[in-house]
Amino acid sequence: MAGTLIRSRPGSPALVLIHGFPLDNRIWDDVFTRIPEGVGVYTPDLPGCGKTPLTEGPWTMDAYARWLLNLTTGLGLKKFFVAGHSMGGYIVFAMHRLAPERIAGAAFVSSRALPDTEEGKKTRETVAQRAEKEGPGFLADTMPEKAAGNAPPPAVIEKLRTVIREAQPAGVAAMARGMAARPDCTPQLAKIAFPTVVFAGRQDKIVPPAESEAMAKGIPGSKLVWCEKSGHVPMLEEPDLVARELTALVK
Ligand code: MLT
Repeated sequence: MAGTLIRSRPGSPALVLIHGFPLDNRIWDDVFTRIPEGVGVYTPDLPGCGKTPLTEGPWTMDAYARWLLNLTTGLGLKKFFVAGHSMGGYIVFAMHRLAPERIAGAAFVSSRALPDTEEGKKTRETVAQRAEKEGPGFLADTMPEKAAGNAPPPAVIEKLRTVIREAQPAGVAAMARGMAARPDCTPQLAKIAFPTVVFAGRQDKIVPPAESEAMAKGIPGSKLVWCEKSGHVPMLEEPDLVARELTALVK
């Protein structure tokens, strides 16, 4: 789609990597380079993220999913594997609601099926309004330490800070409001019929690992992968493990 930034390496099978909030495709850099040649890898910036412009919303999880389904159709990908990090996982659930026949298999990285609490929704609106008013600096100042595990390499913190600092204010607000409006995906779990992997960071302070674990238990045949040295961003903290398990999923 016009203006979309997508890093891609064609191949088969195809794997689409969806970033989370308030991030962009660069979060997958270390995994992208570790997926073996031959596998197609596609890491788009969602609308309003990284270098992809924000278009008319509202950007619900279903809206991001529709956008991704159109994007992948345009790329000639009829059926593909998909991995979603955190909010990206919420979007994978939306893709499962809208077009399960397009998904060959999925990975949920530090994600969950439960919706926001009422209090969580209010916090999202505060975040959205602050991002619109001040820009993403307040998130860049605080989120990296919260997202990383207990002893993060400085490069992980620096990467997160850079990506968040460069986020589009309106895109951040759109994502926050979209996440607040997302449904409870628990009723979907038992209906997921494609192979899945659930990654849980043992030191995750954003999505409690117990929620990822419960999600894995609810999906028939799902493989739970514990990322022992990770907080909320195992694709940065343990890229070897994440790339190896994603490769096993698609092969
Ligand atoms: C994310 O990493 O995408 C978000 O932190 C998820 C969330 O806030 O629910």
